[in-house]
Amino acid sequence: MRVPVDLAKSYRLLNHGPVCLVSAAAGGRQNVMAAAWVMPLDFDPPKFGVVVACEAFTRELVEASGELTLSIPCRAQVDLVQALGTTSGRDLDKAARYGLTLTPGSRVAAPLVEGCVGWLECRVVPEPHIEAAYDLFIVEAVAAFAEDSAFQNGRWAFARDEQRTLHHVAGGSYFVTGEAVTAAPERL
Ligand SMILES: Cc1cc2nc3c(=O)[nH]c(=O)nc-3n(C[C@H](O)[C@H](O)[C@H](O)COP(=O)(O)O)c2cc1C
Repeated sequence: MRVPVDLAKSYRLLNHGPVCLVSAAAGGRQNVMAAAWVMPLDFDPPKFGVVVACEAFTRELVEASGELTLSIPCRAQVDLVQALGTTSGRDLDKAARYGLTLTPGSRVAAPLVEGCVGWLECRVVPEPHIEAAYDLFIVEAVAAFAEDSAFQNGRWAFARDEQRTLHHVAGGSYFVTGEAVTAAPERL
């Protein structure tokens, strides 16, 4: 079940560097692309950096709407992630082609991708220079959610291996988020 995540703790959804799906909507069109270059930038209000290349159709929708969502996919969706990252919504309706279920965001028009394990609804903090120079968008999360069987008490705790998140290597190769270990700083 999708449950809200405290915004001040929402950085924890992305702290371990998972691949994301970036969605945006504008002018009656919506689209989803894969993005590995996503990172937390601040705690509260929570900000993130997202690289959206100038060629991507998603970028047009982000620029037109000033909004995007980040959906965090899992191992069960690896083929979908690869497909969304190697085709363009400029040429096809990805939702129809890949059988995506997209649900409206609660605070933004950009949709959330069902079947993922975490979601962030974000507004762009306009930074025209870095957007143009580095394809980097600074966004502020205005709502955050997680699948409760995978994220509990502010931490990822995957109930099933299929829920584990993904880390992109290159060319269709991924790592899956692994074993959790807890450091004991006083031991050293
Ligand atoms: C695993 C993976 C990660 C990717 N990460 C990024 C990224 O961080 N930023 C980016 O601009 N493109 C990234 N891409 C490429 C875009 O997803 C790709 O260009 C996509 O076709 C754009 O789709 P669109 O034209 O429908 O927006 C990635 C692709 C894959 C497969």
